[in-house]
Amino acid sequence: MKRYNVAVLPGDGIGPEIMGEAVKVLKAVGKKFGTEFVLTEALVGGASIDANGVPLTDKVLDLTLKSDAVLLGAVGGTRWETLDYSIRPERALLALRKELGLFANLRPAKIYKDLIDASTLKPEVIDGVDLLVVRELTGGLYFGVPKGIETLPDGTERGVNTMVYTTPEIERIARVGFEVARKRGKKLCSVDKANVLETTELWRKVVIKVGKEFPDVSLSHMYVDNCAMQLIRNPRQFDVIVTENTFGDILSDEASMLTGSIGMLPSASLGAAKNRAMYEPIHGSAPDIAGKGIANPIATILSVAMMLKYSFDMEAASDLIEAAVEKVLNKGYRTADIASPGEKKSTCTEMGEAVLKELA
Ligand code: IPM
Ligand code: MG
Repeated sequence: MKRYNVAVLPGDGIGPEIMGEAVKVLKAVGKKFGTEFVLTEALVGGASIDANGVPLTDKVLDLTLKSDAVLLGAVGGTRWETLDYSIRPERALLALRKELGLFANLRPAKIYKDLIDASTLKPEVIDGVDLLVVRELTGGLYFGVPKGIETLPDGTERGVNTMVYTTPEIERIARVGFEVARKRGKKLCSVDKANVLETTELWRKVVIKVGKEFPDVSLSHMYVDNCAMQLIRNPRQFDVIVTENTFGDILSDEASMLTGSIGMLPSASLGAAKNRAMYEPIHGSAPDIAGKGIANPIATILSVAMMLKYSFDMEAASDLIEAAVEKVLNKGYRTADIASPGEKKSTCTEMGEAVLKELA
């Protein structure tokens, strides 16, 4: 029997609730497909700050390095917002990305027919949208140096971040973009600000060069401001978008709203080696609804599906979960975030159980 070690990091807020349902799904699939998932749970983010004083301990980092994949819920919450930036819950995420070398962040945004009215956009604009944002995750503004805040001789302060990319960093993320586009609609749009920022001028040059290896993928380029506009004007034009860290952060939030709820979207963060991978919903810890049992577990359940596909080559199991989610939506199950006024609302557990029933 195949055996995989998965680090399970529920985190804060709704993290433990949604993770509970996702873990049930993972176990059920393991049984069905004769695969053993050895799950090791650990604290991360605010939960770790409360217990250990830091958002990510060496022990937990070590656990993730030794695992075949990491499944993460969400981190952060109002309680920790007054802490120094260097020890905020979000730091755990950034450290995991950096230490595991998770340079490629895959964020799909797909419209479910049954939820088409949940979006704030007109149905005719979003019908059929199925796009994927490939966000560079370990470079650019987030990690570039120099960075920091310094006090100048006159007593005023100066804050600095640096958007920096090297050729190898651009090459490897471009390759991921082309490779996933090749398996989808064969269209890649590279998003930059090459008319202003030199670092993205280099980005465009390198992407074009890498593109020569992928003649079957049609490559286009778009400035980030235009892309922000095109995403709501005509989102169906996109198949795969590849872009730098900060642009990807912003555009992926925007793309998620095409689908109506950020509670539906999973993500994968991948490194160079097969055992370097972290899967998480793209939404946050939602402290306002934490503990109420009403969070939507689908994004985390779909993150499990991504894990099965990208880390364990269990395509059939992955498809099965996606199909189960679709069926459950079709049957009318709705958590509060995706319910229309007057519709019956399911709890987090009811939604998880409904998916499990479809899987059985
Ligand atoms: C995301 C989040 C994170 C980011 C935060 C929580 C550090 O917004 O994963 O998109 O900015 O990358
Ligand atoms: Mg973000």
